[in-house]
Amino acid sequence: DRRTRLRQEHSPAPDVTLERRFAYPPKDRHPPPVPFQQPSTLLTFSYTPERVLEYTDSALRYYVEPPPRADLKYGYDRWIKRPEERGRLDGLLQAVAKYRSKIDGAGGDGAAWLREIAVVSWRGVITKILTAPYEDHDGWALNVMLVDGTLYFEEHLTETKLQEKEDMTPHHRLQSYYGYSFESYCTSSTPQRKVEDNVSMTIPLGWGGDVDTNVQWCAVVKTKLGNQRLVIGGEVDCVRGGTKSLVELKTSVIIRNPQDETRFEKKLLKFYFQSFLLGVPEIIVGFRTLQGQVSTIQPFKTIEIPRLVRGKPNAWDPTICLDWGDRFLAFLKRSITAQTESLESEGVWRVVFSPGSGVTLSRLDAPGVEEVKAGEDRVGFLPSQYFQDITA
Ligand code: A3P
Ligand code: MG
Ligand code: MG
Repeated sequence: DRRTRLRQEHSPAPDVTLERRFAYPPKDRHPPPVPFQQPSTLLTFSYTPERVLEYTDSALRYYVEPPPRADLKYGYDRWIKRPEERGRLDGLLQAVAKYRSKIDGAGGDGAAWLREIAVVSWRGVITKILTAPYEDHDGWALNVMLVDGTLYFEEHLTETKLQEKEDMTPHHRLQSYYGYSFESYCTSSTPQRKVEDNVSMTIPLGWGGDVDTNVQWCAVVKTKLGNQRLVIGGEVDCVRGGTKSLVELKTSVIIRNPQDETRFEKKLLKFYFQSFLLGVPEIIVGFRTLQGQVSTIQPFKTIEIPRLVRGKPNAWDPTICLDWGDRFLAFLKRSITAQTESLESEGVWRVVFSPGSGVTLSRLDAPGVEEVKAGEDRVGFLPSQYFQDITA
């Protein structure tokens, strides 16, 4: 069957002629804008403190005004930190499978629906792809599979890179904690802040509870880039108002000089696409001191961000990113389809992005074998059950 064939296909050494290169677009062009459809939510789910995925909104949080001068260091020693892990798609695929059967249950054709989806990915990966034209430092790598017309992406993290992330310097670790701590001050599990969050003598005013990064509320959305349908999953920090409008929370060091301002405007590119891709209309930034005290809060409307940076030094233009993304996806599908036809099987592909130049695509032999944990049953990086379901 296809599975055996897939495994056999990976035994031979990689054929270097399969490597394809796709160069960066020059950034001084003005490509015609590629339309991006307003994302709509297919479903939401929560990860519990035990890291169990459940189809509830138990992890949903409401935005509440943070207290003035919140101390972001508070609770650092009690941070329950989720271990670094590979960018597996398992949770998202579970949700996709659930949505498929929902369509079937409603008398539709879930398999046909999925076949029309060009890409299934976590939001972080699509953000990396779209912002690549402006990325000068950090390279990245993806594992890619094309199954029944749908591309699946996972971030490829080497054992070394995972270990690096796990062994973050104490300084970097604390910086990373500030972001989660800010989330605690800004959110509540009820639409209004609970009174007890404001009365304790030992806990700072407005502290929303100790940080546990296992807990996440996620949305799975569908959208369209050009004529390619995308299904994207990602964490949403909180909601606000009667309509439960989605909110992204961010922290950033206060802006003291023009260099800081330029650095912040560069960061806005990532803030922008991260939120834009899930249809999150608002980003609330807590500006903090170097010592971790919040000084001011500034809300941004996601769609207005590109206008804020236009014409500035180091400006970025989202149309460049969408145009590159559209052509990148088409390139992947075209190259992988061509190779798959001659090889008569799916495989796992590796995309490597090098800042300043572009991406290369190559086919892996024995893909990811070293990355599959004992006891896991996978075809490539997809859970076998999911693979069987969609290829049945
Ligand atoms: P900030 O966004 O305030 O920096 P997110 O903003 O995506 O909701 O992520 C929440 C927090 O997780 C971030 O807060 C940051 O502290 C931490 N974080 C996210 N990505 C990170 C990374 N690559 N390395 C270290 N910390 C990260
Ligand atoms: Mg978040
Ligand atoms: Mg956030």
